[in-house]
Amino acid sequence: MKKWWSIILVSMFLMSLVACSEDDATNEEDKTELQEETEENEEEPNEDEVEDNIDSIIKDESEIAEDAKITALVNKKYGLSEDYIPEDLVTVDVPTVLENPEVKQLREEAAKALKEMFTEAEKSDLYLHARSGYRSYDTQVELFNNYAAEHGKEEANRYSAKPGHSEHQTGLVMDVTSESVNLELEEAFGETEEGIWLKEHAHEFGFIIRYPQGKEEITGYIYEPWHIRYLGVEVATAVYDSGLTYEEYLYEEGLIHEVNSEQE
Ligand code: DAL
Ligand code: ZN
Repeated sequence: MKKWWSIILVSMFLMSLVACSEDDATNEEDKTELQEETEENEEEPNEDEVEDNIDSIIKDESEIAEDAKITALVNKKYGLSEDYIPEDLVTVDVPTVLENPEVKQLREEAAKALKEMFTEAEKSDLYLHARSGYRSYDTQVELFNNYAAEHGKEEANRYSAKPGHSEHQTGLVMDVTSESVNLELEEAFGETEEGIWLKEHAHEFGFIIRYPQGKEEITGYIYEPWHIRYLGVEVATAVYDSGLTYEEYLYEEGLIHEVNSEQE
């Protein structure tokens, strides 16, 4: 009997030793987690660093507004200088609609891409026509004033940009149409074979449909299936793949800090 008691006592002693070492192990784990948390905390930027980041985002925004930048963001919030005229405008070598020689122009890189795109569309028996490309500040003054006189300033502002805020002044935009909508700029163009092809393939040549359907709140303009903006193949493809407007895309990329394009 005495022997059994001593076995029980020795077992209890051994069990208490195991329990103690488990406690130590848990404490060790806790300590490690705490240390990791502290290390993570050390990596978080302090308030000054956060301010620096905001500064750099704001600087990026002003860079985006640099007039001649291929990816310049031009909308109701970010404008171009009144006297900005792109230095490398050329007359496009594709079928055009209007007589005014000014609007048959695009910046060289965009004009080349437009021709390649029209040629590719022709391979599918789709014939695109260029209607309105580069527009000077003064042309936009005239255009906006005419629309405002006809429909009122507020209504005009939904489909026509105020001078200095039209992407057309960048020389990187062309309004494209087809015979199926009588070479006009109509919403119905988006439903034509040419309009659908343009929507699906423009990015392959560096263009995006800049004012998609249902995004007026963000872009500031009603649906314009004809208004294509050149950004270069890489950025245009990234915007196309994202399914976002250009404003939303830049916001997601951390390059602007507000998605809204309305003037402040
Ligand atoms: N229709 C576009 C918004 C422009 O006037 O530039
Ligand atoms: Zn346009």
